[in-house]
Amino acid sequence: MKVLVLVGSMRTGSLNRQLAAIAAGMAERAGATVVRADPRAIALPLYDGDVEAAGGLPPAALALAAQIEACDGLLIASPEYNYSVPGVLKNAIDWVSRAKPSPLRGKRALLLSASPSLVGGNRGLWALRMPLEALGVHVFPDMFSLASAHAVLADGALADAALATRLEELIGRWIGEGRRLTTSA
Ligand SMILES: Cc1cc2nc3c(=O)[nH]c(=O)nc-3n(C[C@H](O)[C@H](O)[C@H](O)COP(=O)(O)O)c2cc1C
Repeated sequence: MKVLVLVGSMRTGSLNRQLAAIAAGMAERAGATVVRADPRAIALPLYDGDVEAAGGLPPAALALAAQIEACDGLLIASPEYNYSVPGVLKNAIDWVSRAKPSPLRGKRALLLSASPSLVGGNRGLWALRMPLEALGVHVFPDMFSLASAHAVLADGALADAALATRLEELIGRWIGEGRRLTTSA
């Protein structure tokens, strides 16, 4: 199974970027081929129907769509902004949804979040499920939200062993199911 790792935050010190890096390593250990998208891969111009009508998708949107097309699964780690999906990530989904044929349809996704809060950004993941599922993505039922992430992420690892085991087990189950259901695995 080929997995594209996307992060919903472009911040250099992003907690979600750190969580995504840990999860990417776990996915590799579970046997996946992992492609780490550039943190700015989602930094697309704001969707504008006039721009699309005049020239189609901008090059950065086409590049992201091609990266998604080339994978079987999406591992997305995203912050929660105001209980919802960060605008930059939603905007990227909106652009990619305009590519024909849709590169998102039939992909398998696992959603992760990290936040300094005690809820871990989980409400944002529920909001993220909606556009993804509407676009035909098979979003894995279980998700992982890291609360107090600033305190638990240290030196590129999850300092809490029980949480690390839980994440590794979740990723193993997701990759295992993807391998069973993905013809190219
Ligand atoms: C515009 C904005 C809205 C936010 N809303 C929430 C929120 O609803 N829930 C939450 O847990 N954290 C919220 N935060 C705090 C983020 O979780 C925190 O900044 C986090 O570190 C962002 O993820 P990152 O470290 O991957 O960039 C918000 C931050 C910003 C900038």
